[in-house]
Amino acid sequence: MQREKVRLFLQEVALFEGLSAAEYDELASVCRERTFAKGHTILYGDDPGTTLFVIAKGSVKIVVVADDGREHILGILGDKDFFGEMSLLDGEPRSASAVARDASTVLSISREDFQGVLRRNTDISLKILTTICQRLRHTDRHLEALAFLSAPGRVARVLLDLGRNQGEKTAKGTVIRTGMTRQELASIAGTTRETLTRVLMEFQEDGLVDIDRDTLTVRKEDGLRARVV
Ligand code: CMP
Repeated sequence: MQREKVRLFLQEVALFEGLSAAEYDELASVCRERTFAKGHTILYGDDPGTTLFVIAKGSVKIVVVADDGREHILGILGDKDFFGEMSLLDGEPRSASAVARDASTVLSISREDFQGVLRRNTDISLKILTTICQRLRHTDRHLEALAFLSAPGRVARVLLDLGRNQGEKTAKGTVIRTGMTRQELASIAGTTRETLTRVLMEFQEDGLVDIDRDTLTVRKEDGLRARVV
């Protein structure tokens, strides 16, 4: 991206809202653009890290990976979202890995440059804190599901959450276009792909959901809610 394009992009990023024209110029001049192919790891958990990343194009999943390669998705981030703020702020190693879900472009900003922006703009610190709180809330809820719910209960809850956050109400029910692979959906529900498939089939047989290649339709929300146990 040319400097001018980077500046225009930064002006649309909520985190940087309210900077002066000179500050956008300065930030654009210190951003480094990097592109990653689908499936490429942008940063590895436990590595040292001193940069903040902002997604300019594509989608990134934040994952923790077990020694045997199994991965658990903590969050999925998209256009204009940021990540890498934790190591940048506390100086500890990366708390998780970040993997490109599609061909993705990110802008990276060094700790030194970002701290300069932070010192001059307290609003940015507040926005980062708000985002960290939201992510922690999400993770707490997720942990609660892993600790207390059965696998069908977790799948039911993930479907209800997706329906509420991104579903489309239709006469048939709430249509969810997840944009996720079954493996990703299973990982978010904290289960295996095989178990997810079995549970979805059971829900379908019981008339709670309809399963298509690209969509999942919640037909009976109350019935699904009763399965969150
Ligand atoms: P950092 O620890 O520097 O590198 C990994 C990044 O993943 C981290 O900063 C956050 O930006 C992001 N991250 C870590 N945990 C979560 C989570 N639970 N939900 C969403 N994003 C997270």
